[in-house]
Amino acid sequence: MRVDVFTQVPHAFGWLTEQKPLATVLGTELELRLFNYRDTTPLRAGQVDDDPYGGGAGMVLRVDVVDAALRGAYGDDRPKRVVALTPQGRQLDQQLVEELAAEPAIAVLSSRFEGFDERIVSHLCTDAVSIGPYVLSGGELPAMVLLDAIARRLPGALSDGSGELESFSSALDGGIEYPHYTRPAEYRGWDVPQVLLSGDHGRIESWRREQSRVRSGG
Ligand SMILES: C[S@@+](CC[C@H](N)C(=O)[O-])C[C@H]1O[C@@H](n2cnc3c(N)ncnc32)[C@H](O)[C@@H]1O
Repeated sequence: MRVDVFTQVPHAFGWLTEQKPLATVLGTELELRLFNYRDTTPLRAGQVDDDPYGGGAGMVLRVDVVDAALRGAYGDDRPKRVVALTPQGRQLDQQLVEELAAEPAIAVLSSRFEGFDERIVSHLCTDAVSIGPYVLSGGELPAMVLLDAIARRLPGALSDGSGELESFSSALDGGIEYPHYTRPAEYRGWDVPQVLLSGDHGRIESWRREQSRVRSGG
């Protein structure tokens, strides 16, 4: 799959591309391209944003700048999903991650300051996605959240089995995962549940299912 991120801060993604599991699939299952709006802006001196009509604080990312960036990257052949990252969008959840990870290519648009000219979201994008009901200073962290969540779903990203039975997976009916424990079996009087030390895989499996069900409010 290919993910194209449009940003004013492409170097912010350097850290993420070195981290597993994204680093594992980069160059094979995942192609990541970073586009800087400044490289294709039709305005002088790398300008990408402007004062809001009607007044008020902050700068707004311009529609002509984003359109030029998309044309520069795709001509008239844009990916089926063009995602604007905005706190006003549909909240990201595992279902949306799976949906996007199934696409051959997506474009992800981030903004800064006051955000997008509304015409970007309504005319140039197919989706508006929020990573949660709070406001960050820019779309780079949300883009990295989305990228990491997608990368985990790509073939070969995770060791066998570790991506199938985790929180929000269909294997757990969309619920959250059961608790994990490791050595020591007892620490300051805090014991690991006996069933996990029993070696009885049938009992362990049903205990885990039950824990997942209870923790998910089922
Ligand atoms: C400071 S925010 C703009 C907030 C906007 N003025 C509002 O009140 O909804 C700047 C940019 O950061 C990104 N951003 C901030 N919070 C986000 C969130 N929760 N989810 C997705 N993107 C977010 C978006 O790209 C947004 O345009």
